Amino acid sequence: MTLSIRKLHESLGAEIDGVDLSRPLDTDTKSEIQAAWETHGVLVFRNQDIGDTEHVAFSRHFGDLEVLPETDRTDDTMPEIFILSNVGADGKIMPVESEPVTFNTLTWFWHTDSCYRAIPSKGAILHGIEVVKGGGGETRFANMREALAEMPSDLRSRIEGLEGQHSWAWMRSHRNLPPMKAEEAAKVPPVQHKLVRNHRNRSQSLYISPLYMERIVGWDEEETRSLVEELTEWAAQDRFVYEHAWQQHDVVMWDNTWTMHIVLPYDPGSQRRVMHRTAIAGVEAVL
Ligand code: OGA
Ligand code: MN
Repeated sequence: MTLSIRKLHESLGAEIDGVDLSRPLDTDTKSEIQAAWETHGVLVFRNQDIGDTEHVAFSRHFGDLEVLPETDRTDDTMPEIFILSNVGADGKIMPVESEPVTFNTLTWFWHTDSCYRAIPSKGAILHGIEVVKGGGGETRFANMREALAEMPSDLRSRIEGLEGQHSWAWMRSHRNLPPMKAEEAAKVPPVQHKLVRNHRNRSQSLYISPLYMERIVGWDEEETRSLVEELTEWAAQDRFVYEHAWQQHDVVMWDNTWTMHIVLPYDPGSQRRVMHRTAIAGVEAVL
């Protein structure tokens, strides 16, 4: 055992010490990280001043990496790195009404990444390069296995057999972003996933992603919103949620299959926030 693992919350999250992510990983350390990730869902590595190349190399240990359908990356960044930033190439905060800044504020809704894909992402690894100091910008993660396991039986029985429709285009509509071009939209058609997700280890989790969930299949708008709100409120209770307060050069790695997350609002016009992320591709459709 080379790592030290300290739980951060009774339900999920652990801080990992004893690894330098700028160096190649040996097989034992990799296996220990993999096991800790499966157990705790969210791993926090402090003081990891890594570049994008090292970030991508570390991420590749855990699977193939996704490339997003749309990004604000510039030509000198790697396609596997998704940049969430309100700072422009000139080093200044961008106008709050600019598309990248507006897009970033979509993370202020609960979601799980890449649920708009037929095979959603397995997980993501986020590096805090410039973090908000004091009030706002924290990231909350919810344990959706426990949220399902402890759900009152009447609510549990109401979601049995339901599917949600997840849509990239609908997600953009929350912030009135300009509609996508038809050929862009055609690359990311809506997909449907079960609300009760089965895992290979026989556990189950609640699979909702309120930011992207345009519809419960077969339900109307009003019924959909009311159920999604009820489920979100249930899962977002403190007992299922770890809140991460960012320090510069934290690297946070989460499982997208049984957790969801949200960023707490900050002032994008005055608080700099620069985060680089990789997304680990899923290997199978939602069971
Ligand atoms: C993401 C995301 C959270 C954050 O990268 O998918 O939701 O804290 N980021 O920026
Ligand atoms: Mn996200």
